[in-house]
Amino acid sequence: MKAVVYQKFGTINELQVIERSIPSIGEDQVLVKVKAFSINPMDWKIRKGEMTLMSGSKFPKQTGADFAGVVETAGSAVNHLKKGDEVFGVVKNMMKEGVSAEYIAVPSSFVWKKPSNLSFPQAASIPVVGTAAMTAIEKMGTIGSHTRILVNGATGGFGMFLLQLLKSRKAIVTAVASTKGLDIARQWGADEVIDYTKENVMSRKAAFDVVIDLSGKMSYQAARQIMKSKGRFLNPVPKPIDIPWSIVSNLFTAQKQIVVLSSPAGKYIKALLVAIENGLEIKVDKVFSFADYKEAYQYAEQGGYIGKVVVALD
Ligand SMILES: NC(=O)c1ccc[n+]([C@@H]2O[C@H](COP(=O)([O-])OP(=O)(O)OC[C@H]3O[C@@H](n4cnc5c(N)ncnc54)[C@H](OP(=O)(O)O)[C@@H]3O)[C@@H](O)[C@H]2O)c1
Repeated sequence: MKAVVYQKFGTINELQVIERSIPSIGEDQVLVKVKAFSINPMDWKIRKGEMTLMSGSKFPKQTGADFAGVVETAGSAVNHLKKGDEVFGVVKNMMKEGVSAEYIAVPSSFVWKKPSNLSFPQAASIPVVGTAAMTAIEKMGTIGSHTRILVNGATGGFGMFLLQLLKSRKAIVTAVASTKGLDIARQWGADEVIDYTKENVMSRKAAFDVVIDLSGKMSYQAARQIMKSKGRFLNPVPKPIDIPWSIVSNLFTAQKQIVVLSSPAGKYIKALLVAIENGLEIKVDKVFSFADYKEAYQYAEQGGYIGKVVVALD
């Protein structure tokens, strides 16, 4: 089978197609014929060697974490999936494993049946950012109709799920996006939008109960200026030092920094499927063919897309 791999950390040019054998499966695994995999910023952060503490430095590495496809074979201990089922899922270890291949072996507990009304690219867009958005909402604490939430970087994959999931929580949500994303941010539920090319959100002193930065460009120290005195800063893009540092510094400050690390658990997927059934939109900005995988990464890495970028296989 064909697989996209890289043999050392670096640019998109390190990605290459190789031939390798179809993986074998354990008794609680399924072999999935991949139909689509979505691109996440962590793919290129890992590839550039920015996350070696978690990714390790063992090569070759495949890229991508969430996928959709068709079950080719199910292990002997797998009861809920069988050959021919249309599924979506995520690798167990997002930092060390990848899905950029024609076939992948995955534990069956990380694979779910694909709703028939979703395309493979849409389903492949759910696990990483959908569960991250659910995790973030849990970490926001009590949210009421007076809670003011700032979503900085609101129209990528994470923001798409977060804005729509927050809609039912009745909070007052301000979304920061580029000009192109303002309309869709409103459509996804933002009460107010800020165009980051025209207004600096840092002028909103002490305005928000919760600030979540999805752009990776706002530090906790900066965010503190626009947070209320007991505000929370949710950080899904932590540097390794942020994890211990937030625990220590939170002991001494009323404002808190909370690191968000998603784990694509089944309970979140179940809730996401209900939200999707009730109208949550999964917008796929662009689908690239497997042969155009480098263009797909180029397109995603330059930013400016709305929702998700996906690679599809025949
Ligand atoms: N911790 C976890 O478990 C977890 C899980 C998933 C994702 N993440 C991380 O969360 C972040 C968001 O994920 P994603 O998939 O949504 O990424 P994404 O699709 O790249 O979205 C990032 C958004 O930030 C916007 N942005 C860029 N510059 C900005 C600025 N100066 N001010 C405000 N917004 C700006 C982008 O808009 P334009 O493109 O229009 O400029 C884009 O909409 C990524 O860093 C990702 O690695 C963490």
